Amino acid sequence: MRRKLIAGNWKMNLSYKESEKLAKNITEKLDPKVMQKIDTLVCPSFISLGIVNKAIKDTEVKLGAQDIYYENDGAYTGEVSASMLKSVGCEYVIAGHSERRKYIHETNKIINRKVRKAIEFELKPILCVGESLEEREDEIFEGVVEKQIIEGLSEITKESMKDLVIAYEPVWAIGTGLNATPKQASDMHLFIAKVVSKLYDNEVAEALLILYGGSVNGKNAKEILSACGVDGALIGGASLKADEFTDIIKIGAQI
Ligand code: PGA
Repeated sequence: MRRKLIAGNWKMNLSYKESEKLAKNITEKLDPKVMQKIDTLVCPSFISLGIVNKAIKDTEVKLGAQDIYYENDGAYTGEVSASMLKSVGCEYVIAGHSERRKYIHETNKIINRKVRKAIEFELKPILCVGESLEEREDEIFEGVVEKQIIEGLSEITKESMKDLVIAYEPVWAIGTGLNATPKQASDMHLFIAKVVSKLYDNEVAEALLILYGGSVNGKNAKEILSACGVDGALIGGASLKADEFTDIIKIGAQI
């Protein structure tokens, strides 16, 4: 069984000081023995990346950003570049989260540019894909996710795929308390692997980490993380509570 990845997406929550406190609480609760078996990262807001980087220094917890801009630098007010993220210690960056697709109207094309920029600067992109409730009910969800993957990975070489992670996050399960059944998650993870295998080959698909996201918490983590094809989780709400987040990491390490 491959090493799992548990990622916390703090979204637009926590002040600078609160972020520092949460990062410290998480690192204090993590047993180094557990950390030998699993990878973990936290994705605070841009303003807290620096302070969280300090708080997790000398631990196994890694740092990720929630977004990136696709230009190197210049007159792009409010945006944050890949080199800025690198300079505060980011190793990962989320691209194409459904909340950005919905509220900021990010398209597959924009998301693809972000993924390419991340790779150019040796940041590991976590490409988020997932269907809405309507798309699931209309039974077009596989096609929607396939398109997000094909367009999101446009011009990404086989070589770069080793540093890329895909997060399957059904939109209807994010922040709603609803979550996909282990079978639904498993089916989609295997489907995503099939799409990636068609785009590249079996070797790339087998090495690819596919995370599940959508209302993962301390209670359902074992069931979800045990599902076939689920290589970890991208966690929103439950990642804001040090006890619950570290419990999920422990559960992931035992599977
Ligand atoms: P949630 O968020 O765990 O609060 O549902 C997951 C995500 O959006 O990454």
